[in-house]
Amino acid sequence: MKLLVTGGAGFIGSNFILYMMRQYPKAQIINMDALTYAGNLENLRSVEQENNYSFVKASITDKQAVDEIFSQGINVVVNFAAESHVDRSILEPDVFVNTNVLGTQVLLDAARKYGITKFVQVSTDEVYGSLGTTGLFSETTPLAPNSPYSASKAGGDLLVRAYHETYGLPVNITRCSNNYGPYQFPEKLIPLMISRALTDEPLPVYGDGLNIRDWLYVEDHCSAIDLVIHQGRSGEVYNIGGNNERTNIQIVNTILQQLGKPESLITYIEDRPGHDRRYGIDPAKITKELGWKPQHHFETGIQETIAWYLSHKDWWERIQSGAYLEYSARQYGSRLGESL
Ligand code: NAD
Ligand code: DAU
Repeated sequence: MKLLVTGGAGFIGSNFILYMMRQYPKAQIINMDALTYAGNLENLRSVEQENNYSFVKASITDKQAVDEIFSQGINVVVNFAAESHVDRSILEPDVFVNTNVLGTQVLLDAARKYGITKFVQVSTDEVYGSLGTTGLFSETTPLAPNSPYSASKAGGDLLVRAYHETYGLPVNITRCSNNYGPYQFPEKLIPLMISRALTDEPLPVYGDGLNIRDWLYVEDHCSAIDLVIHQGRSGEVYNIGGNNERTNIQIVNTILQQLGKPESLITYIEDRPGHDRRYGIDPAKITKELGWKPQHHFETGIQETIAWYLSHKDWWERIQSGAYLEYSARQYGSRLGESL
């Protein structure tokens, strides 16, 4: 297998490369990443010297760079490269369309030109919009994205589907729920709350804190993608989720309890515009067809994740650079009534 992983320096992409290098020591893995604020090669330090791993710094929107990489004889592509944060998409939608829609199309064109055998588009449950108090997302739930982020992911998905229908490109789309685990950038709920609680800063909870997400340990997402690469039926969508729904306030309270920090740190702030109320995935298709099952329980997964952030304080402190502080001030400053 000669595998191209795009966005491999990000949270899930780097976990995926580490996972695949353990599972397939003979596979050739090329990591192509633009190294935006979310990309961090430190995550891959343990494999960077391996002969079967290489890194190319390039954007998936760069046709020439993409062509050059594909011309090396790639046979499998897993596309993680994306702008991934909903709050940032509300502040600056254009970069989301550029990478998540146009970048996907550049990859699809190259995949077609070079006749790759599998193109996996890593998508999200957010393309389905929001659930009420009952029901779950299945692969046939209509797309109804509510944020510029989810709309751009849906746009990418539709192009992937169209390249299968029109040109017969062998594709799969995976739609996963919220991931957590090591190497997640501290702008997302779990690492944000851990890092702020550790430094006794207020914890900004949007709205009433009762929005629900379906949490999955990142390694379980990686194992699902591995199965889709090898056994996914061409043209099919697979939903991935851990049957593990929690309200945001439950998550924040769990973190506070485990860190021995007071609930008084919780600060309710103005809600995210267009905030989806509830996500919940029905993983029956991938379970039945490919035999996938998550291996991690939330209770132990969250403990391990908190322990990882405690022992990697230098990792998250280093990436909270000037650019991150600027974003943080823009996102939370006036809502928390303070300058961060
Ligand atoms: P992330 O933001 O941590 O990482 C994204 C990576 O993509 C970074 O390394 C970044 O440098 C790179 N990148 C951004 N623009 C690029 C471009 N134009 N060209 C090349 N590289 C570029 O994101 P993540 O949380 O690891 O998510 C990875 C993928 O999984 C995304 O497609 C996201 O939509 C999807 N997803 C994420 C979750 C989640 O809970 N985090 C859940 C479901 C699906
Ligand atoms: O469902 C999959 C999606 O999960 C992925 O496609 C996205 O890439 C990923 O970022 C994530 O999106 P969410 O918007 O669900 O994740 P986030 O961590 O930003 O927020 C989780 C919940 O926590 C959401 O209801 C908003 C809330 N929240 C978030 C932040 C950052 C807060 O209450 N306060 C915060 O400061």
